[in-house]
Amino acid sequence: MRLLITPGSRVGGRATVPGDKSIAHRWLILGATGLGPSRLAGLPPSLDVLATARALARVAPAARPGLEVWARNAGGPLEGGGSTWNTPDDRWRPATLEVEGEGRSALADPGSPLDCANSGTTMRLFAGMLAPAAFRSELIGDESLSRRPMERVAAPLRTMGATITTVDGGPPIRIEGSPLHGAEIDLEVPSAQVKSAILLAGLEADGVTRVREPASTRDHTERALAALGAPIDREEGLVSVGRFRHEGFRADVPGDVSSAVFLVAAAALTGGAVTIEGVGLNPSRTRVLDVLRRMNVRIDAEVEGESLGEPVGRITASSDGIGPVRVEPDELPLVHDEIPILAAVAAHAPGDSWFLGAAELRVKESDRLAGISDGLRALGGVAAVEGDDLVVAGGGLNGGTASSRGDHRLAMAFAVAGLAAFGPVEVTGAEAADVSFPGFDAALASLGARSERRT
Ligand code: S3P
Repeated sequence: MRLLITPGSRVGGRATVPGDKSIAHRWLILGATGLGPSRLAGLPPSLDVLATARALARVAPAARPGLEVWARNAGGPLEGGGSTWNTPDDRWRPATLEVEGEGRSALADPGSPLDCANSGTTMRLFAGMLAPAAFRSELIGDESLSRRPMERVAAPLRTMGATITTVDGGPPIRIEGSPLHGAEIDLEVPSAQVKSAILLAGLEADGVTRVREPASTRDHTERALAALGAPIDREEGLVSVGRFRHEGFRADVPGDVSSAVFLVAAAALTGGAVTIEGVGLNPSRTRVLDVLRRMNVRIDAEVEGESLGEPVGRITASSDGIGPVRVEPDELPLVHDEIPILAAVAAHAPGDSWFLGAAELRVKESDRLAGISDGLRALGGVAAVEGDDLVVAGGGLNGGTASSRGDHRLAMAFAVAGLAAFGPVEVTGAEAADVSFPGFDAALASLGARSERRT
C-alpha cells in the first residue's frame, strides 16, 4: 500500500492516539498472568499488541476467551496475521479487555512455536515470562524480527539458571523451562525490553534479582509492578525484584506519546496547532518533547491523572519555524524510537542536525540509520550516516518516493515529512503504520492533512 501526501495544508485541531504499545504489551501479560479478573481499557489493536495477545491466548488458556472477545470487538482478529489497513473507516474501536487470569503457574504448553510477528517486545518479554515455566517453548518472528539480536536477553536469563538457546544470536529462541534463581545482572546495552524480561523472570525466581542498566530506559514494567504491590526497589540505574504473584487489576492504557509526536510534528511543520488528549506522559518517554522544544516547537504537556502508576495528560503544540538540533549519545536511548520523526522534522530546519551515537537504530524493525538517510535523500533532502552518527542537513524536501522498509516509524516519519515538502510525497509500504498506530492516516486527515491511499 502506498500513501500519497499532498503538501500545503495546515495540520491542526484536537486528536487522540491509540493506546501506548509498550504499556499495552506489559499490561496484557500482567493481566493474563494475574490471579483473578483484570479489565483493561484502551488497548490498541496495533499489530505488535495483537502479536502479544495471540501468543498469550496460546499459553494462558484461561485468558483466551477474553482475548478473543476483545480482539473481535477492537477490529483485529485473534487468529491469523494481516493488517487492519484494508478496512478504511472504522479500523479499530476502543474495546475493553476482560480476562480471568489463573496466575503464572497455570501457563500451559502451546505445543508449537509462538509467532511474535514483527514485535521485538513480544519476543523478549515472552522469553522472560516463559524461562521459568514448566514446559518447553519456541519463539519465532517475521523476517525483520528474525534478524534482530536475542543473545542480549538470552544471556542474562541463563545467569538466572534458564536453559535457552538462540540461532546465530537471533530467533528462534528455544526455552526448556526450568526453575530460576535470583542474580545480579549488569546489562551491556540499555534496553527496556531486556530489563523487563529479567524482571518478569525474577517474579518467579528464588531470591532477589537485580538489574543494572548502563543508561536509563523506559520504566513501564517497574511502575506496573510497584502499583500491583510487587517487592520492587528502584535506585538510579538499578532495579531489584523478588518472587511475587500478582492479582488481577483494572486500568486504562494511556495514548502512545511516541504516536502523538507524529501529530505534533505534523502541526509544527505546517504552522498549525494541535492538542492531543489522554496521552501517557511518563518521564522516561517524554524526552522527545524536550528535543522538539529545542527545535523551536512550543509544547505544553500537562499531567491530569494516573493509571497503574503511569502519568496521563494532554499535549498542545505549535511552532512558527523549526530549528536544527543536536542529540547527544547519552540521551539517545530515551528517544531512539523517535529519531525517524525527529530527523524528518530536522530536514525542514535551516542548518544541520546531529543524532550522535545512534548505532542501536541499526537493529530496530529495520536498519533505521540507513532507512532514514536513504528515505530523506529520496525525497530530495541531504542526510548521511557517519560512523554511528546521523546528520541531516536542513533546507526542506523537494518530494518524491520514500520506502518504509516495512518499518512503521519510517512510514509515518516520511508521510509527515511530506506535509511540508515542496512537491508531493509517496510512501511505499505505508501499511506498516498499523504496527503501532492503526488509523494513522485517518488521524492526520482528521487534522486537515491531504493524503490518499493507493494500492
Ligand atoms: C520497548 C523498548 C525499546 C523500544 C521499543 C519498545 C519496550 O527497545 O525501542 O520500541 O516496550 O520495552 P529497547 O528494549 O531496545 O530499548
